[in-house]
Amino acid sequence: MLERLQKIISAAGITSRRASEALITNGQVSVNGVVVTELGSKADPSKDTITVDGKSLKVSEQRLYILLNKPPGYITALKDGQGRPLVTDLLKDVSDRVYPVGRLDYNTEGLLLLTNDGDWANRLMHPRNEIEKEYHVRVRGKVIDQQLKRMADGVELEDGKTAPAVVNLVKSGEQNDWISVAIHEGRNRQVRRMCEAVSLSVVRLKRIRYGTLALGTLRAGQFRYLSDTEVRELSGEPNKKIPAELPQREVRQKVTRPQRSARPERSGGKSSGRR
Ligand code: URA
Repeated sequence: MLERLQKIISAAGITSRRASEALITNGQVSVNGVVVTELGSKADPSKDTITVDGKSLKVSEQRLYILLNKPPGYITALKDGQGRPLVTDLLKDVSDRVYPVGRLDYNTEGLLLLTNDGDWANRLMHPRNEIEKEYHVRVRGKVIDQQLKRMADGVELEDGKTAPAVVNLVKSGEQNDWISVAIHEGRNRQVRRMCEAVSLSVVRLKRIRYGTLALGTLRAGQFRYLSDTEVRELSGEPNKKIPAELPQREVRQKVTRPQRSARPERSGGKSSGRR
Protein backbone atom coordinates (compact mmCIF):
# COMPACT_ATOMS: atom_id res chain seq x y z
CA MET A 1 0.00 0.00 0.00
CA LEU A 2 1.27 3.45 -0.92
CA GLU A 3 1.91 5.68 2.07
CA ARG A 4 3.58 8.99 2.64
CA LEU A 5 7.32 8.60 3.12
CA GLN A 6 7.44 10.52 6.39
CA LYS A 7 4.77 8.22 7.81
CA ILE A 8 6.71 5.11 6.75
CA ILE A 9 9.92 6.43 8.28
CA SER A 10 8.37 7.42 11.59
CA ALA A 11 6.40 4.16 11.77
CA ALA A 12 9.68 2.28 11.34
CA GLY A 13 10.80 3.84 14.61
CA ILE A 14 13.63 5.89 13.14
CA THR A 15 12.34 9.16 14.51
CA SER A 16 9.23 11.32 14.87
CA ARG A 17 7.06 12.40 11.93
CA ARG A 18 8.41 15.93 11.98
CA ALA A 19 12.04 14.80 12.10
CA SER A 20 11.28 12.33 9.26
CA GLU A 21 10.15 15.27 7.15
CA ALA A 22 13.49 16.95 7.78
CA LEU A 23 15.32 13.76 6.72
CA ILE A 24 13.41 13.90 3.43
CA THR A 25 13.93 17.58 2.71
CA ASN A 26 17.64 17.22 3.62
CA GLY A 27 18.01 14.62 0.86
CA GLN A 28 18.79 11.75 3.25
CA VAL A 29 16.02 9.48 1.96
CA SER A 30 16.01 7.37 -1.22
CA VAL A 31 13.34 5.20 -2.80
CA ASN A 32 14.66 2.47 -5.11
CA GLY A 33 17.99 4.25 -5.35
CA VAL A 34 16.54 7.69 -6.17
CA VAL A 35 16.85 10.53 -3.65
CA VAL A 36 13.42 11.93 -2.78
CA THR A 37 13.18 15.42 -1.31
CA GLU A 38 9.52 16.22 -1.87
CA LEU A 39 7.35 15.94 1.22
CA GLY A 40 4.21 14.60 -0.45
CA SER A 41 6.09 11.62 -1.97
CA LYS A 42 4.69 8.16 -1.39
CA ALA A 43 6.14 4.67 -1.41
CA ASP A 44 5.03 1.12 -0.72
CA PRO A 45 7.10 -0.29 2.15
CA SER A 46 6.24 -3.87 1.10
CA LYS A 47 7.63 -3.40 -2.45
CA ASP A 48 9.97 -0.40 -2.52
CA THR A 49 13.49 -0.25 -1.13
CA ILE A 50 13.56 2.78 1.14
CA THR A 51 16.88 3.92 2.57
CA VAL A 52 17.72 6.57 5.15
CA ASP A 53 21.34 7.71 5.07
CA GLY A 54 22.10 4.72 2.88
CA LYS A 55 20.65 2.19 5.32
CA SER A 56 17.60 0.12 4.35
CA LEU A 57 14.53 0.77 6.38
CA LYS A 58 13.24 -2.19 8.33
CA VAL A 59 9.48 -1.82 8.56
CA SER A 60 8.39 -3.68 11.63
CA GLU A 61 4.95 -5.23 11.84
CA GLN A 62 5.24 -5.41 15.57
CA ARG A 63 4.52 -2.27 17.52
CA LEU A 64 6.30 -1.95 20.86
CA TYR A 65 5.10 0.25 23.72
CA ILE A 66 7.37 0.36 26.74
CA LEU A 67 7.22 2.01 30.16
CA LEU A 68 10.68 2.44 31.72
CA ASN A 69 11.52 3.75 35.15
CA LYS A 70 14.46 5.87 34.06
CA PRO A 71 17.23 6.15 36.64
CA PRO A 72 19.12 9.45 36.97
CA GLY A 73 22.36 9.55 34.97
CA TYR A 74 20.92 8.29 31.66
CA ILE A 75 20.17 10.37 28.59
CA THR A 76 17.04 10.06 26.48
CA ALA A 77 18.85 10.71 23.16
CA LEU A 78 19.66 7.70 20.96
CA LYS A 79 23.37 8.53 20.92
CA ASP A 80 25.65 10.76 22.94
CA GLY A 81 28.90 12.37 21.88
CA GLN A 82 30.12 12.29 25.49
CA GLY A 83 29.61 8.55 25.85
CA ARG A 84 27.08 8.87 28.65
CA PRO A 85 24.69 5.95 29.33
CA LEU A 86 21.58 5.90 27.12
CA VAL A 87 18.09 4.90 28.27
CA THR A 88 18.06 2.36 25.44
CA ASP A 89 21.04 0.62 27.13
CA LEU A 90 18.46 -0.49 29.71
CA LEU A 91 16.34 -2.30 27.09
CA LYS A 92 18.83 -4.95 26.06
CA ASP A 93 16.37 -7.72 25.27
CA VAL A 94 13.95 -5.52 23.29
CA SER A 95 13.86 -6.94 19.77
CA ASP A 96 13.26 -3.73 17.80
CA ARG A 97 14.62 -0.24 17.91
CA VAL A 98 12.44 2.05 20.00
CA TYR A 99 12.80 5.71 20.78
CA PRO A 100 11.67 7.86 23.69
CA VAL A 101 8.36 9.73 23.62
CA GLY A 102 9.63 13.19 24.52
CA ARG A 103 12.56 13.58 26.83
CA LEU A 104 13.63 13.63 30.43
CA ASP A 105 16.77 15.46 31.54
CA TYR A 106 19.92 13.47 32.27
CA ASN A 107 19.30 13.69 36.01
CA THR A 108 15.51 13.39 35.95
CA GLU A 109 14.16 9.97 36.85
CA GLY A 110 10.89 8.13 36.55
CA LEU A 111 8.31 7.35 33.92
CA LEU A 112 9.60 7.31 30.35
CA LEU A 113 7.65 5.88 27.40
CA LEU A 114 9.45 4.35 24.44
CA THR A 115 7.95 3.04 21.22
CA ASN A 116 8.57 2.25 17.57
CA ASP A 117 5.11 3.58 16.67
CA GLY A 118 5.79 7.08 15.38
CA ASP A 119 2.13 7.99 14.95
CA TRP A 120 1.30 7.09 18.52
CA ALA A 121 4.30 9.03 19.83
CA ASN A 122 3.27 12.06 17.80
CA ARG A 123 -0.27 11.96 19.15
CA LEU A 124 1.02 11.82 22.71
CA MET A 125 3.41 14.71 22.20
CA HIS A 126 1.10 16.96 20.21
CA PRO A 127 0.43 20.13 22.29
CA ARG A 128 -3.24 20.06 21.20
CA ASN A 129 -3.80 16.90 23.26
CA GLU A 130 -2.59 18.55 26.48
CA ILE A 131 -1.65 15.29 28.17
CA GLU A 132 -0.86 15.95 31.81
CA LYS A 133 2.48 14.84 33.21
CA GLU A 134 2.99 14.70 36.97
CA TYR A 135 6.33 15.07 38.73
CA HIS A 136 7.51 14.70 42.30
CA VAL A 137 10.15 17.22 43.18
CA ARG A 138 12.38 17.19 46.24
CA VAL A 139 13.36 20.75 47.01
CA ARG A 140 15.92 22.13 49.41
CA GLY A 141 14.47 23.54 52.62
CA LYS A 142 10.86 24.55 53.18
CA VAL A 143 8.27 25.50 50.63
CA ILE A 144 5.82 28.29 51.37
CA ASP A 145 2.22 28.58 50.13
CA GLN A 146 3.00 31.56 47.96
CA GLN A 147 5.62 29.59 45.98
CA LEU A 148 3.11 26.79 45.32
CA LYS A 149 0.44 29.27 44.29
CA ARG A 150 2.76 31.15 41.92
CA MET A 151 3.74 27.90 40.20
CA ALA A 152 0.10 26.85 40.00
CA ASP A 153 -0.97 30.18 38.48
CA GLY A 154 1.87 30.20 35.93
CA VAL A 155 5.31 31.75 36.14
CA GLU A 156 7.07 33.95 33.63
CA LEU A 157 9.91 32.06 31.92
CA GLU A 158 12.19 33.27 29.13
CA ASP A 159 9.98 31.43 26.57
CA GLY A 160 6.73 32.83 27.98
CA LYS A 161 4.36 32.33 30.90
CA THR A 162 3.61 28.74 31.88
CA ALA A 163 0.03 27.47 31.73
CA PRO A 164 -1.84 26.86 35.01
CA ALA A 165 -0.48 23.79 36.82
CA VAL A 166 -1.55 21.60 39.71
CA VAL A 167 0.95 22.01 42.52
CA ASN A 168 0.72 20.23 45.88
CA LEU A 169 2.84 19.85 48.94
CA VAL A 170 3.32 16.08 49.29
CA LYS A 171 5.62 15.67 52.26
CA SER A 172 7.58 17.86 54.62
CA GLY A 173 10.95 16.71 55.95
CA GLU A 174 13.68 18.14 58.15
CA GLN A 175 15.97 19.22 55.30
CA ASN A 176 13.71 18.98 52.25
CA ASP A 177 10.10 19.21 51.16
CA TRP A 178 8.48 17.14 48.39
CA ILE A 179 6.02 18.81 46.07
CA SER A 180 4.06 17.43 43.13
CA VAL A 181 3.74 19.42 39.93
CA ALA A 182 1.33 18.42 37.16
CA ILE A 183 1.75 20.20 33.82
CA HIS A 184 0.51 19.58 30.29
CA GLU A 185 3.09 21.61 28.43
CA GLY A 186 6.33 19.98 27.36
CA ARG A 187 8.89 22.74 27.39
CA ASN A 188 12.54 22.08 27.88
CA ARG A 189 13.49 21.69 31.61
CA GLN A 190 10.10 23.16 32.44
CA VAL A 191 9.66 21.92 36.01
CA ARG A 192 13.21 22.85 36.97
CA ARG A 193 12.77 26.32 35.49
CA MET A 194 9.39 26.79 37.19
CA CYS A 195 11.00 25.92 40.52
CA GLU A 196 13.92 28.27 39.87
CA ALA A 197 11.45 31.05 39.02
CA VAL A 198 10.00 30.87 42.55
CA SER A 199 13.44 30.40 44.19
CA LEU A 200 13.09 26.67 44.86
CA SER A 201 16.24 24.61 44.51
CA VAL A 202 15.56 21.16 42.99
CA VAL A 203 17.34 18.25 44.64
CA ARG A 204 15.51 15.45 42.82
CA LEU A 205 12.98 15.32 40.03
CA LYS A 206 10.93 12.25 39.20
CA ARG A 207 8.06 11.82 36.73
CA ILE A 208 5.41 9.65 38.34
CA ARG A 209 2.52 9.90 35.85
CA TYR A 210 1.96 10.42 32.14
CA GLY A 211 -1.71 11.04 31.37
CA THR A 212 -3.65 8.00 32.54
CA LEU A 213 -0.52 5.98 33.22
CA ALA A 214 1.20 5.89 36.62
CA LEU A 215 4.78 4.74 37.19
CA GLY A 216 3.57 2.25 39.81
CA THR A 217 6.00 -0.12 41.48
CA LEU A 218 8.63 -0.49 38.77
CA ARG A 219 12.08 -0.06 40.27
CA ALA A 220 14.69 2.25 38.71
CA GLY A 221 16.03 0.66 35.54
CA GLN A 222 13.09 -1.75 35.19
CA PHE A 223 10.67 -1.65 32.29
CA ARG A 224 7.46 -3.32 31.19
CA TYR A 225 5.38 -3.48 28.04
CA LEU A 226 2.09 -1.56 28.06
CA SER A 227 -1.17 -3.42 27.63
CA ASP A 228 -3.41 -2.81 24.63
CA THR A 229 -5.82 -0.89 26.86
CA GLU A 230 -3.07 1.32 28.28
CA VAL A 231 -1.82 2.14 24.78
CA ARG A 232 -5.31 3.12 23.58
CA GLU A 233 -6.20 5.06 26.70
CA LEU A 234 -3.01 7.09 26.58
CA SER A 235 -3.61 8.28 23.04
CA GLY A 236 -7.32 8.83 23.70
CA GLU A 237 -8.46 6.21 21.15
CA PRO A 238 -10.34 3.61 23.17
CA ASN A 239 -11.54 1.66 20.09
CA LYS A 240 -8.36 1.61 18.06
CA LYS A 241 -6.96 -1.79 17.12
CA ILE A 242 -3.32 -2.20 18.10
CA PRO A 243 -1.43 -4.11 15.36
CA ALA A 244 0.57 -6.44 17.56
CA GLU A 245 0.38 -6.53 21.31
CA LEU A 246 3.00 -8.11 23.48
CA PRO A 247 2.13 -9.99 26.68
CA GLN A 248 2.43 -8.11 29.95
CA ARG A 249 5.74 -8.77 31.56
CA GLU A 250 8.18 -7.00 33.75
CA VAL A 251 11.83 -7.02 32.92
CA ARG A 252 14.51 -6.51 35.47
CA GLN A 253 17.66 -4.88 34.37
CA LYS A 254 20.88 -4.38 36.24
CA VAL A 255 21.47 -0.70 36.95
CA THR A 256 24.94 0.43 37.83
CA ARG A 257 23.93 3.40 39.97
CA PRO A 258 23.19 2.76 43.67
CA GLN A 259 19.49 2.50 44.51
CA ARG A 260 18.06 4.89 47.03
CA SER A 261 15.21 4.28 49.43
CA ALA A 262 11.58 4.48 48.30
CA ARG A 263 10.06 7.92 47.90
CA PRO A 264 6.47 9.12 47.99
CA GLU A 265 4.59 8.20 44.82
CA ARG A 266 1.19 9.76 45.34
CA SER A 267 0.21 13.34 45.62
CA GLY A 268 -1.85 14.51 48.51
CA GLY A 269 -1.78 17.21 51.10
CA LYS A 270 -2.40 20.81 50.44
CA SER A 271 -3.52 21.74 46.96
CA SER A 272 -3.41 24.85 44.91
CA GLY A 273 -4.37 25.38 41.28
CA ARG A 274 -6.78 23.66 39.01
CA ARG A 275 -7.69 19.96 38.86
N1 URA B 1 10.83 19.13 33.57
C1 URA B 1 12.15 19.25 33.79
O1 URA B 1 12.61 20.27 34.27
N2 URA B 1 12.93 18.22 33.46
C2 URA B 1 12.49 17.05 32.97
O2 URA B 1 13.27 16.14 32.72
C3 URA B 1 11.10 16.95 32.75
C4 URA B 1 10.30 18.00 33.06
